[in-house]
Amino acid sequence: MSAEEGPKPPTEAELAEMDRDQLLKLGGKLDGVEIVDYPEPWPVKGTRAERRAERLVAFWFALSALAGLAFVVSLIWWPWQYKEPNDERGAFLYSLYTPLLGITLGLAILGLAIGVLLYTKKFVPAETAVQERGDGGSKEIDKATILAHLADAGNRSTIARRSLIKRTAGAGAGALGLAAAALPVASFIKDPWKNSDNKDSLWHTGWQPAHPGEKVYLRRNTGKPEEIVLVKAEDLDAGAMETVFPFRESERHDEHALSQAFKRSDNPVMLIRLRPTDAARVVKREGQEDFNFGDLYAYTKICSHVGCPTSLYEQRTNRILCPCHQSQFDALHYGKPIFGPATRPLAQLPITVDDQGYLYARGDFIEPVGPAFWERKS
Ligand code: FES
Repeated sequence: MSAEEGPKPPTEAELAEMDRDQLLKLGGKLDGVEIVDYPEPWPVKGTRAERRAERLVAFWFALSALAGLAFVVSLIWWPWQYKEPNDERGAFLYSLYTPLLGITLGLAILGLAIGVLLYTKKFVPAETAVQERGDGGSKEIDKATILAHLADAGNRSTIARRSLIKRTAGAGAGALGLAAAALPVASFIKDPWKNSDNKDSLWHTGWQPAHPGEKVYLRRNTGKPEEIVLVKAEDLDAGAMETVFPFRESERHDEHALSQAFKRSDNPVMLIRLRPTDAARVVKREGQEDFNFGDLYAYTKICSHVGCPTSLYEQRTNRILCPCHQSQFDALHYGKPIFGPATRPLAQLPITVDDQGYLYARGDFIEPVGPAFWERKS
């Protein structure tokens, strides 16, 4: 039976007079719905089974709330910074950081979902009805009757008097909301402006002197962090390239600092010795005319596109190649990009030698290295 063939719809005044039960029946009639069965989920109130069902639902909501809070606490306070394997406890705690975030957030979502499912299954009445499909959009009368129907279902599910379920569901949803809000906020907890002069800040690399006058030497990587091999100008043949890392005397006996210098992503530098005929054709960048030492030029190894290591130097063309997306940089032209997606020159490190001929950096890069830092000025 379609709505058009059903009983005469009531007037607006009659509609306003009707209570929820009447609206419920009217809605059924108008839509040609026949309710075959509409049992109360708990016809006898306060049974042990009902209380057990209530506790079960509350358990999942409470679990969701606890897991949500645990996620926020882990996200902010768990020791997340990398620790060397020889620091057993530190490395173990660090290794738990990501799994902990996944487990707690997963549990919070799962607990809330299972709580809602169980509540619906145990407390929302499941009617059995048969309805013919009608044509056209919803009319006012349909909206009023369906609202009555939904309100009735809520009423029959006895949510109003189940304060334990309401409280735990609220706590679960609240903790999950807190976790969702903490995610974008947490990324701002590390203040990029804090200690901006420090080599560990986002503004600097490991080449930043810790104090005025400190010489940060160019160091070869022999594969053994404790083996210090500094580089002299004559160590490189014309047309050669070597990757070097920062070394400071104050770290000579600090195993951790020595190995960290190799690991920090913006530390590697390509030291290139141009052939004399090529060196005569060099075009220097304004303000960086004295960054080289003779035929030696030091460019960051971090590609200005998306940060891959630009580890290929082609002696014949003096091009530096990035294997990731094939950007090419001209070593004779202050490392400016001449092919591929990179748009910024490779940052150049100012270098010179001490009185024994060892190469050192006269300071940090004067522009951002690689693409990573979003507050760049160039
Ligand atoms: S990262 Fe070097 S070209 Fe894309």
